[in-house]
This record gives sequence, C-alpha cells and structure tokens, in this order.
Amino acid sequence: MKAFLYRWMIRLTPLAAALLSGCGYAYPDPPSRPVAPSAFTRPPAAVPAASPAQVALGRALFNDTRLSGDGSLSCASCHQPELGFGDGRATGMGIGGTKLKRHTPGLWNVGFAPRLFGDGRAASLEDQALMPVANPDEMGADPARVAARLAADPAMRARFATAFPEAPAVTPAAMARAIAAYERTMVSGPAPFDRWAAGSAGSMSPAAVRGFTLFAGRAGCARCHTGWAMSDGKFHDVGLPDGDTGRGAITGRRRDAHAFRTPSLREIGRSAPYMHDGSLPTLAAVVDHYADGAVARPTAPRRVVLTAAERRDLVAFLESLDSDKVVE
Ligand code: HEC
Ligand code: HEC
Repeated sequence: MKAFLYRWMIRLTPLAAALLSGCGYAYPDPPSRPVAPSAFTRPPAAVPAASPAQVALGRALFNDTRLSGDGSLSCASCHQPELGFGDGRATGMGIGGTKLKRHTPGLWNVGFAPRLFGDGRAASLEDQALMPVANPDEMGADPARVAARLAADPAMRARFATAFPEAPAVTPAAMARAIAAYERTMVSGPAPFDRWAAGSAGSMSPAAVRGFTLFAGRAGCARCHTGWAMSDGKFHDVGLPDGDTGRGAITGRRRDAHAFRTPSLREIGRSAPYMHDGSLPTLAAVVDHYADGAVARPTAPRRVVLTAAERRDLVAFLESLDSDKVVE
C-alpha cells in the first residue's frame, strides 16, 4: 500500500509542479546555463571622456545648494557619496520635508544605464540632470533662474568658461552637461569578486563562491543582473507588492506593468535600503524576497527555492561586490 502511494506521488509530482508554476508560485525556474565569471569583468573603456574641467564643474554643481528653490538642498543632500550616492531612507525627502514617492537610488555606475530613473523616463544623464531641479517636490527651482543666479557669481562664470571654452555662457544646458560628465565618473572600484574572477582563488570566501554559483546558475539572478555592472539595462517586474506600475505607466504596455530598470549591484552593500520603494532593509531581505516574497501576477518572476544556507551564501556573494576603497 505504501509503495503504491509513493508511486502515485511520484507520478503526480510533475503535474503538481506544472500547476504550481502556472500560478507563478513555489517552483524555481529551470536551471539557466551558468554564466561564467568572465562575463562580469570590467570593460576596458567604461565611459565617454569629458574634460577634467567639466567633471570638476559638474561635481561643484552636484554639491551646490543654489540649485534648489530655497537654497536648502543640493543633489548630494539626497545622493550622498558615503551611502552609495543614496540617502539611506526608504523613500526620498524633498524640499521642505516633502515625502517623495520613490526611494533615492544609488548612483554608482549610472553612466552605464541606457535610460534613467527606475521607469526609464529620462533618455540620458543630460536629459535627467535638471529634472530634480525643476521638480516642485524635489528641489523646487526654475533651471533658468538657477543659471542666472550662478552667472551672477564671477567664480562660477569663470568655471563655466574654462569647462566650455567654445560656448562659455552659464546656461541650463551647460549645467546638465557638466553634471552628467561628473556622474559618468561614478564608476565603482575593483572588488574582491573581480580579483576572484581574474583567477585569485583566495579573494572570496567559500560562502561567496557558492553564492556566485547560485547567482550565475540555479537562482537565475544573472538572467537580469548581467555584465560588469550586473544589470541588463532592461525593465522587469520583480514582484514587489506596492501599487507603483513603474515602466508600465510610461509606455502604457501591459507587459511593462510594475517593471523597473535592473539596478547595478556593485557597491550594493553600501546603499541600503533596497528597491524602488525602499521596502527591503537588508541584502538578506532582498534574497528572502526572491525566495518567498514575490507576489503572484503575470509579469512577476517565479519564486526561487533556496535553503537558509544558500540565502546566506548569496548575501556573502553580494557583499563581495563592494569595492575595497570607495573611489568617489
Ligand atoms: C530630494 C532628494 C533628491 C534630490 C535633491 C535629487 N535627487 Fe536624484 N533622485 C531622487 C529620487 C527619489 C530618485 C528616483 C525618482 C524616480 O525614480 O522617479 C532620483 C533619481 C535620480 C537619478 C536616476 C538614477 C537611475 O538609476 O536611474 C539620477 C541620475 C539622479 N537622481 C541625479 C540627480 C541629480 C543630478 C540631482 C541634482 C540636480 C538630484 N538627483 C537631486 C532624489 C533626489
Ligand atoms: C527578472 C529579472 C531579475 C532577476 C531574475 C533578479 N533580479 Fe534583482 N533586480 C531586478 C530589478 C528590476 C530590480 C529593481 C526592482 C525594483 O526596484 O522594483 C532588482 C533589484 C535587486 C536588488 C536591489 C538593488 C537596489 O539597488 O535596490 C538586489 C540586491 C538584487 N536585485 C539581487 C538579486 C538576486 C540576488 C537575484 C537572484 C536571487 C536577483 N536579483 C534576481 C531584476 C532581477
């Protein structure tokens, strides 16, 4: 009788699996082909070159509170270098303490992103740079007025003239170019994972190595977190339960509902909390989310079956993506 039952259970398992996976639940994706460590090595020429004067001007503007309506905020008030260029809060806080809808994303390796903002509504860093300035909830200023204010400062006028000798005027367009040039230098430095991928076996703990094997293989992370910055630059729904439809609200396409751009995972240990809504406080919470937290809806990924030890290994791997020294 027992043997008979077992036989039936075994026969029924694929059926149960098919039913469960149809609901988007419980069963892992079929093992994807493991991605080799070499797929994550740094590309030789990371970012288009800008002149040092442009980068220095961009950095000064990024830290200048004259870019906000009431002089209280600079870009760096929310994008703080020591917090991975994030702010450590779940969701951002704008001018006069306005609570923002989304989390302030970290900016490491933002120069590699094909479109900006989690929903991709800005086409380039230049396009994006003055949006927070003009946003009444963020910096609440008029970019043309900000440019006029900066132009009244002789030292600033001189910096713009050095940075853009062919068109030395202080204009919103020049401000955007300089800020974007600075942002493209936010490239993270070498991490233990890079040394391990280059062949130095002792550079990562055994737990982190096991974590990489999961990441690049069965856990399916590298389907989206690919390449040196660990992002495919595309938009995906990862099954967060909030009502923000992300890319879907921009394109109006049903398959983009709840989709956000895959973030870079470099320096990830330094930019908690995580996700567009800042709802996951730690890397362990992120891994738990992929294993048990994703809501069931047609666009969401299937949950990944992971033991407690495997979850710890994945976290150890993610931590190996923090560079030894923050290059700012
Ligand atoms: C009040 C806080 C705040 C200030 C000030 C601020 N940001 Fe942001 N930043 C955010 C938030 C929140 C988002 C995410 C918004 C969204 O996705 O809709 C964001 C997104 C971005 C992104 C997109 C990142 C990505 O991965 O797509 C860039 C780039 C950026 N900001 C640059 C800047 C620059 C440059 C300035 C100054 C001119 C600035 N920010 C000022 C809060 C702020
Ligand atoms: C289907 C594509 C996809 C898969 C598979 C995937 N991710 Fe993600 N990941 C994303 C997207 C998209 C986001 C941002 C989601 C958001 O903010 O709504 C993200 C966010 C993250 C973040 C937070 C980043 C931040 O700055 O907030 C971490 C950490 C992360 N993923 C790790 C993993 C790990 C580990 C796995 C495997 C268990 C994995 N991801 C699998 C697409 C994916």
